[in-house]
Amino acid sequence: MYRTHTCGELRIENVNKEITLSGWIQKIRNLGGMTFIDLRDRYGITQLVFDQNTHPELATKTQELGREFVIKITGLVAERSNKNNKMPTGDIEIIVNSFDILSKSEIPPFTIEDESDGGEELRMKYRYLDLRRKPLQDALILRSKMAQKIRTFLTDNDFLEIETPFLIKSTPEGARDFVVPSRMSDGKFYALPQSPQVFKQLLMIGGFDKYFQLTKCFRDEDFRADRQPEFTQIDCEMSFVERDDILNLFEKLAKYLFKEVKGLDFTEDFPRIPYDEAMEKYGNDRPDMRFEMLINNVSDIVKGQGFKVFDDSEYIGALCAKGQAIYTRKQLDALTKFVRRPQIGAKGLVYMRCNEDGTFKSSVDKFYSQEELKKWADKLGATAGDLILVLSGDKLKTLAGLSELRHEMGDRMGLRDNSKFAPLWIVDFPLFDKNEETGELHAMHHPFTSPKIGEEHLLDTNPENIKANAYDLVINGSEIGGGSIRIHDTDMQKKMFKILGFTDEEAEKQFGFLMGAFEYGAPPHGGIAFGMDRWTAIFNGTESIRDVMAFPKNNAGRDIMIDAPAEIDKKQLKDLSLKVDRE
Ligand code: AMO
Repeated sequence: MYRTHTCGELRIENVNKEITLSGWIQKIRNLGGMTFIDLRDRYGITQLVFDQNTHPELATKTQELGREFVIKITGLVAERSNKNNKMPTGDIEIIVNSFDILSKSEIPPFTIEDESDGGEELRMKYRYLDLRRKPLQDALILRSKMAQKIRTFLTDNDFLEIETPFLIKSTPEGARDFVVPSRMSDGKFYALPQSPQVFKQLLMIGGFDKYFQLTKCFRDEDFRADRQPEFTQIDCEMSFVERDDILNLFEKLAKYLFKEVKGLDFTEDFPRIPYDEAMEKYGNDRPDMRFEMLINNVSDIVKGQGFKVFDDSEYIGALCAKGQAIYTRKQLDALTKFVRRPQIGAKGLVYMRCNEDGTFKSSVDKFYSQEELKKWADKLGATAGDLILVLSGDKLKTLAGLSELRHEMGDRMGLRDNSKFAPLWIVDFPLFDKNEETGELHAMHHPFTSPKIGEEHLLDTNPENIKANAYDLVINGSEIGGGSIRIHDTDMQKKMFKILGFTDEEAEKQFGFLMGAFEYGAPPHGGIAFGMDRWTAIFNGTESIRDVMAFPKNNAGRDIMIDAPAEIDKKQLKDLSLKVDRE
């Protein structure tokens, strides 16, 4: 028998019991005639004692041991004289009677403890060692618990878990496809699904009514901390529902997870904020509502005073950082540098301090009198001690810059506490995104999204300004999920493809199967998909979704442990009728 207990299990009640444990050696300390070993498994750490006086042969044998050896020990549980109240097993230790080495270990390339000395690349190369660390073990245990709770909630609500294929034809979710060559159909390719979107709609047409799936999705897109080329969705679809049926049900799921996984009660309804309002107040469509610091459009009060930069700007927006008038010149210069980075691209930053004596000091005093500056303060609700920060330029770009600046100030002021959660829904997204250079319209969500109820007629006359019957769940500035009520009518779907620039033939070639299915009685339906990795990362309080994935890819989309992607051999290429042309 390898073990009677786990390494996290023994307590003071077990004293004098003979037990067997197996696990990894975390640490070895030799103190005179005693050797102490911390033995680790997924459940915790237990201290082992090898006593030179009582078991001289064992104490000598421990010299062979090293970090990360896997051993099995048998011994007696004893009360510790010097207890460690930071460990659940800290009241006891094991006086070892015998042990076996189950497996030896090389010296690990980094320390396998909560705080590791290994850089990220090294830890990714030896991911199986990194996975032994408690922060990663905890993250994956949390993830497993979330998956289990999600399945419980959804099956209790009559959802069926149904799998959909990975080898498919391209799905338009806005990214590039990963493709897989087919040996059987010479010169043809499958695409890996960017999401199961069309299949879940077909399942509704197939009569399944309520579907869900925890499934991998594949998108060849640029990296960010919250993006991976393969990631997991909690994908859901329902028939005979309107927007609010979906929002209400999935808000219940979110509250259930907050309660079951984080122990938090959310009794209030999640705010529902229209896209336009989110853009005006927060500068983006995934607002971090853990703190206020709203963006204000100050164009009307700052223009016309002879300051050319503002006078020539399409939009001027400002933020009020409470109590930050203490910012020094140096700190303000650092903020200016921050907004000038290419990612934001602002030309400069205008500031105004609200002094304690009721006067104002701005970086543009030459153009604005004290009365004019008071208007700024009034507009932003700023009082003595506050700092106002102003950006100007093209509207969308400036809003995006203000959003970044808001987050930066939120971080600096400690307002983005990862143990706090601010969930909300964004609703009324635009149906289309316009490419300013080409004038082409793209689906903001995807081409199966229906227009907002009552706006359908605008498809013919003014598609650019139409709103979508679409929604996102946002938590702490992260887009956790998105979905929509779908089009379930062939004519409207055809119209949609036309607006998106598909010819009838192209639409037929790519989506003929779906349009065909609509001809056979499609129920009104809608759904949503949540990013499982993002949701887990938020609950785990970590910045990167990599921290909650067992085997993530690095920034360049590589798995450096297994060395993928890799070349394939000539024979494989030949079987697939492929040639690599590096030109
Ligand atoms: P969407 O494209 O918004 O919608 O994706 C849903 C959610 O998936 C997560 N997500 C990602 N997570 C990690 N890495 C990525 N590369 C990545 N891309 C997306 C986000 C996002 O909110 N078929 C629709 C859903 C629907 O309409 O029902 C879809 O896929 O959290």
